[in-house]
Amino acid sequence: METIEILSLREQDIPAFLALQASAFRTHATLFDTSVWTRETPEECRAEFPTTRILVARGGDGKILGGIRGREVEGVWLIRKLFVGQESRKKGVGHALMGAIERLAPSSCHKISVCTMLVLGENIRFFLGLGYIPDFLMPDHYNRLHLICFRKDPARIGEDFSPPLLSDQE
Ligand SMILES: CC(C)(COP(=O)(O)OP(=O)(O)OC[C@H]1O[C@@H](n2cnc3c(N)ncnc32)[C@H](O)[C@@H]1OP(=O)(O)O)[C@@H](O)C(=O)NCCC(=O)NCCS
Repeated sequence: METIEILSLREQDIPAFLALQASAFRTHATLFDTSVWTRETPEECRAEFPTTRILVARGGDGKILGGIRGREVEGVWLIRKLFVGQESRKKGVGHALMGAIERLAPSSCHKISVCTMLVLGENIRFFLGLGYIPDFLMPDHYNRLHLICFRKDPARIGEDFSPPLLSDQE
């Protein structure tokens, strides 16, 4: 994986951050209405600053590669709006963003929660691979989309969830 750094979103980076978020979610535009993610305004994003940790992954050249958000609600650390630009995918940036936001969960939280669209099999495999387990379904949510929500025990942050090698199973 190329060298990346993960930092809090800065005010001056909001336009570039939202532009990349919009283009990342347009990947799904043939499957469902993505406007919740593609039409977020700078004002809406800025309004989340007091309640939400917003992280940005940057490459060695400073270019924004992706982002993620986390917010505590009644003891649950809610992870939202994970995205990685198309050119930077399948290089571990998504895993790095998830690891960074998980580590920011307040110690008072008893659960980490993340949801994705039921139709996105790749995303479901992605979260299972990070040690999340299915928690509940939200039928007919945004724009009548079905969501699947996953949970993780904060005590399991940092564990290695890679499958055992075949040779280890003999
Ligand atoms: C979902 C998303 C964030 C994943 O980002 P990503 O940077 O590709 O994630 P990673 O590279 O960490 O992992 C993706 C896969 O590539 C694999 N991978 C990681 N590094 C790799 C490498 N160097 N070579 C090959 N594969 C690699 C991972 O093991 C993972 O496989 P798995 O999903 O089968 O477990 C990205 O596809 C995206 O932005 N999608 C559109 C928006 C979206 O759906 N967001 C989620 C909303 S809930």
